[in-house]
Amino acid sequence: YPTAESLEQAFLAGGTAVVFDVLRATSTIVTALAHGCRGVVTVVDPAEAQEVAARLAGGNIPVLLAGERGGEKIPGFPHGNSPLEFRPEVVGGRMLVLTTSNGTRALNLAAGRAGTVLVGSLLNARAVAREACRLGRDVILACAGTQGEFSLEDALGAGMVVLEMMKMADPGWLYCPTPGASGLDLSDFAVAALHLALAYKDNPRRAFDHSLHGRKLFSMGLAADLDWCASLNTCEVVPVVGEGKEIIPGCP
Ligand code: MLT
Repeated sequence: YPTAESLEQAFLAGGTAVVFDVLRATSTIVTALAHGCRGVVTVVDPAEAQEVAARLAGGNIPVLLAGERGGEKIPGFPHGNSPLEFRPEVVGGRMLVLTTSNGTRALNLAAGRAGTVLVGSLLNARAVAREACRLGRDVILACAGTQGEFSLEDALGAGMVVLEMMKMADPGWLYCPTPGASGLDLSDFAVAALHLALAYKDNPRRAFDHSLHGRKLFSMGLAADLDWCASLNTCEVVPVVGEGKEIIPGCP
């Protein structure tokens, strides 16, 4: 889990932090930016999110206010946290102000505490791995989890990035599955996440059937969100936290 201490260490080392809240905050951010959103401001508190959105709108910046608590849209907010809400015609050219239960907290914790902060999900795992390799620094895999608990889907997202980094470091690696063989120096968490990715790589959607939050979202009638968030490596956008702590689309 991202702690202020682990992220401070990454900052001191100029490392790259990749933040994951696969269900659903980081998948929503990746989707919105891939669909033409100008930038995303992540806010921990709903009242502050309303203020930020009002301030942006007052400066004539087209803005969408979105957020959830307990998976439900926040009363009075026009948008929730479903990635499917942020279609190009809805989000194109607009700023998104987003507050969620765990994901925006993890992102704000990481912002300013690592050399570079990237936003990861299953959608853009390969693109994130490519960018992390290009940056060539230590990588902190910062999993948001749920209320401070381990989340299977976030560890899976982290594992998919590790898997792609392994393949990039050593294209023959899959045929010689010894983590050390790639030359990457993996923590035990990274190795565990990698094995999770190997277990689910042919059907990542299945992991959501096995995860607490995935099952909760399914029971809320949000199966379409789960299907979307499971679309592995379908997106090339690598959102990055910019200077003003606003998340902007990275490459391409
Ligand atoms: C979170 O930040 O906890 C999530 O994105 C919750 C959700 O909307 O599924």
